[in-house]
Amino acid sequence: MRTERRHHRRIALTEDSRVLDVGCGIGGPARYLARTYGCRVDGIDLTPELIETGRVLTERCGLADRVVLQIGNALDLPYPDQTFDVVWCQNVAMNIADKDGLFAGVYRALKPGGLFTSTEYSVGPGGDIIFPVPWAYDASINFLDREDVMRERYHTAGFRILECMNYSNTVIKHYEKMLSSPPKLTSRLIFGDDAPERQRNSQRNLIEGRTIYWMITAERPKLQVNASGCCEGLDDNASYSDLSIGKPRGMPQAWR
Ligand SMILES: C[S@@+](CC[C@H](N)C(=O)[O-])C[C@H]1O[C@@H](n2cnc3c(N)ncnc32)[C@H](O)[C@@H]1O
Repeated sequence: MRTERRHHRRIALTEDSRVLDVGCGIGGPARYLARTYGCRVDGIDLTPELIETGRVLTERCGLADRVVLQIGNALDLPYPDQTFDVVWCQNVAMNIADKDGLFAGVYRALKPGGLFTSTEYSVGPGGDIIFPVPWAYDASINFLDREDVMRERYHTAGFRILECMNYSNTVIKHYEKMLSSPPKLTSRLIFGDDAPERQRNSQRNLIEGRTIYWMITAERPKLQVNASGCCEGLDDNASYSDLSIGKPRGMPQAWR
């Protein structure tokens, strides 16, 4: 929830915004955004049980008119081109090997000028990752890049990185709090009885610099330069104010 709050402050949502939550799980972030901003949120996740649970919770929260969850693959997004103002992706990319495919699909589904905001881990300089972690029991389904490779993938897909914040310390403190309190039933239900061990390993990986946790906000630029050097995209008079979203709040830390 803490990263969710920080995450959404990077973007400016209104009732008219269309948001896609990729790898939405049981839809917590989707409901949070819809409740807070009144926007419509589509969520997609590979795991049927999570979507079924998420639909029940969404119904009970009275948000079914604004939150639509469906089963599907982030690598084959079933939405028309240029549908969304914001694509949100929280702790999902570490299980996806084909990150170029993921980013290409997100880029396609975003409107020009739309934002892609993602929290993800990269490999750090501190040595091999200690398993199991919350997203993987072993290296076979763990797909983390080095930071420079991660950034390059955004650029290759056509994104402009607006902000790339290292949130490792925040997550370390979050784990500290979680591990020193009695285990929550929800955590056990979702992650299993070994959740504390996996969380402890994840915290240690961050402390020892084996992994780094990032919050990245990137833009699908309104204008693209094609192979012949000409600009394509919205008409020449379009500006930020033509879009239903605003600029990210606060001064970006790293413009590229
Ligand atoms: C750690 S959970 C995060 C859930 C949610 N974003 C949140 O923060 O509460 C990762 C989610 O990514 C989903 N996922 C992994 N690979 C996926 C893919 N290729 N397409 C769609 N969802 C995927 C998993 O099913 C899981 O629900």
